[in-house]
Amino acid sequence: MITLNINNKEVAIDAPPEMPLLYALRDIAQMTGTKFGCGQGLCGACTVHLNGQPIRSCVTPIAAIGEQKVTTIEGLGDTPQHHVQIAWRDYKVPQCGYCQSGQQMSAAALLAQNSSPSDEQIDQHMAGNICRCGTYKRIKAAIKQAGKAIASDQTLPSNAGGQS
Ligand code: FES
Ligand code: FES
Repeated sequence: MITLNINNKEVAIDAPPEMPLLYALRDIAQMTGTKFGCGQGLCGACTVHLNGQPIRSCVTPIAAIGEQKVTTIEGLGDTPQHHVQIAWRDYKVPQCGYCQSGQQMSAAALLAQNSSPSDEQIDQHMAGNICRCGTYKRIKAAIKQAGKAIASDQTLPSNAGGQS
């Protein structure tokens, strides 16, 4: 039995240590928002965060996780919604949608480091997330909108909206 911290909850995983995190998430924890694409670390569909960094869960064995925090698309921003999720909706980014949770996890990790990425920085960071439907243009526009919203949050005074 291995205990993982997934979306800030302790989750017991009864599986061999070599099981890929992706399988543990989908088949044992019943978190099916993370998708299986290639199973070889090539397409990005299975992207989750490990201590805030994007990783490919299809090639990460659960034995390698230890105490590190796993964040999946289910934990990205329930309440309130993450700016990435809002921008994705505003730009109607998904087509079939299959790649999009991985795309959002990669985008959120990028914006956590840099809320105003250049086109080149977006291209470089998102290069490992493949979309068979070709939604790249809308993805880039949504990343830029989400970045602006994140930057504007960061410039608000801490008592914004409060009575003085
Ligand atoms: S399913 Fe993990 S990178 Fe494709
Ligand atoms: S929206 Fe269909 S694969 Fe990306």
